[in-house]
Amino acid sequence: MNQSLISPYGGRLVDLLVAPEEQPAVIAEAQRYPSVQLPARALNDLELLATGAFSPLKRFMNKADYERVLAEMRLTDGTLFPIPLTLTISKDDLPTRDEWITLRDAQNYVLAIMHIEEVYRWNRDSEAQAVLGTTDPRHPLVSEMERWGDLCISGELRVLRLPQHDDFAELRLTPAQVRAQLSALGHAQVVAFQTRNPMHRIHEELTKRAAAQIQGSLLLHPVVGLTKPGDVDHYVRVRIYKTLLENYYDKSNTVLSLLPLAMRMAGPREALWHALIRRNYGATHFIIGRDHAGPGNDSQGRPFYSPYQAQEMLEQHASELGIQTIPFQEMVYLIDEERYEETSCVAPNARIARISGTQVRDDYLAQGRLLPAWFTRPETAAILAESYPPRHKQGMCIWFTGLSGAGKSTIANALISVLLEHGRQVTLLDGDVVRTHLSKGLGYSKEDRDANILRIGFVAGEIIRHQGCVVCAAISPYRNTRNEVRKMVGAEKFVEVFVNTPLEVCEERDAKGLYAKARRGEIKGFTGVDDPYEEPLNPEIVLETVETSPKENAVKIITYLQRRGFLQTAPSAIAGE
Ligand code: ADX
Ligand code: MG
Repeated sequence: MNQSLISPYGGRLVDLLVAPEEQPAVIAEAQRYPSVQLPARALNDLELLATGAFSPLKRFMNKADYERVLAEMRLTDGTLFPIPLTLTISKDDLPTRDEWITLRDAQNYVLAIMHIEEVYRWNRDSEAQAVLGTTDPRHPLVSEMERWGDLCISGELRVLRLPQHDDFAELRLTPAQVRAQLSALGHAQVVAFQTRNPMHRIHEELTKRAAAQIQGSLLLHPVVGLTKPGDVDHYVRVRIYKTLLENYYDKSNTVLSLLPLAMRMAGPREALWHALIRRNYGATHFIIGRDHAGPGNDSQGRPFYSPYQAQEMLEQHASELGIQTIPFQEMVYLIDEERYEETSCVAPNARIARISGTQVRDDYLAQGRLLPAWFTRPETAAILAESYPPRHKQGMCIWFTGLSGAGKSTIANALISVLLEHGRQVTLLDGDVVRTHLSKGLGYSKEDRDANILRIGFVAGEIIRHQGCVVCAAISPYRNTRNEVRKMVGAEKFVEVFVNTPLEVCEERDAKGLYAKARRGEIKGFTGVDDPYEEPLNPEIVLETVETSPKENAVKIITYLQRRGFLQTAPSAIAGE
């Protein structure tokens, strides 16, 4: 084994895992301790603490470490460590000092026990200012910090089990496992690449250039823990990384491993952290390009960090990092030469092209346009296109609400014909029909009405998940219940249509004779007569039915759906026509 690959810090890598023979006894103890359930971020932090990725840190920070990290980016022993790593709790679940507690995951599995040696307060603004350089709530971590507990707890940590990951298990390697794989490749030098995005041709170019420069191995080390909200999810990204490794990298020289890191989007400080972490995984070099770990723009529309601030930060601390930086300027595509180059090497009159992450989403995927081959590999374009279909191929829910006899079912049926004409698959969930099977036996009490609506909402959600259209027509008289359904199906795919026919008109129409029965007292709890109807406050669409025909109303809805991109403007042409 190549000794240099163990890294100069190899001997100090921590391993907090309880030995197998000790486990049954410790688990039995753990079941008796008070419990704290860890949120996603703390689960990521715990996992990397436990495997030694944050070495030499062995526990969530105590007050002294925390304060020195904020002020000087150092632990109390002087080691460079730029990011505070705290476990926060709220006052309500405060365990007493000097007590052992059990850390559990969302399913309540025991992960670790912790001895509470310190409990201390922290200040949101000072932490945000020190670490992120801002308290602007547009910064994704600043807004998240609002939800963290007021107190930090710290003390000895004994880990029983790493958080469970069943996806891509073969790629989830600990630092020791990554170092072993790299060592087997046999190169003294290893360059690591951090990413939280799909990899396009630019990233391929960065990684291949860097590996060639050091004549060593490449560690593709994408983050699969928390990243910036709205990022492409890791399932899609990892499928892309695997395909790229298979088809475009030299596998005798490359290791792909997933890093369950919870990013802070802290720009320069985060870049320093990324480098230290990769050092612990056995890398000797680390790529830092443009705007590394940048969270985008602040509320004034200005970038939180300048594009090369991360590189400057690493330069300043080069002597004590234990890993070297390979900096890159922004890479762009040279149209005439059909290749990638750093901006500093581009002639002033050269024609260049670039596509930003936002453009990928809005100008290509959302509109069903395939990403060009100069920008990304066809396999990547295909995976992205399949995972992010244009809106007109995604699911949606049109939810009609209104009094009995308002015209919901009639308009719904007219609408469905037009949707079918447009080539969309549609399911109708009509309240009355649903009550004959799915909700058979339910009555008209508030509870039963809610149960009925939530069942419809559940089914609607499932249809949407599979890219279907669902049209629901039920009185759905209660505002809160409709809002529940909106959340269940996904607010951005929920179109609430209020069929605003006055009670007098519904009663006069009385197509089913129900109003008459209700007035005679033969049926009880009839909406509008002796049961409330709560009008929607902000429905997407309001229809009136006295002057407007069902077909005209259906067209109004269609126009709305086209405007939102849920439908293409013309029905898809039938082949041969
Ligand atoms: S992040 O951690 O920095 O947020 P991201 O996936 O966006 O992840 O970038 C990964 C790495 O590639 C970073 O080092 C970034 O600076 C670099 N990078 C991305 N795009 C470019 C580009 N066009 N030119 C140079 N470097 C880039
Ligand atoms: Mg970036």
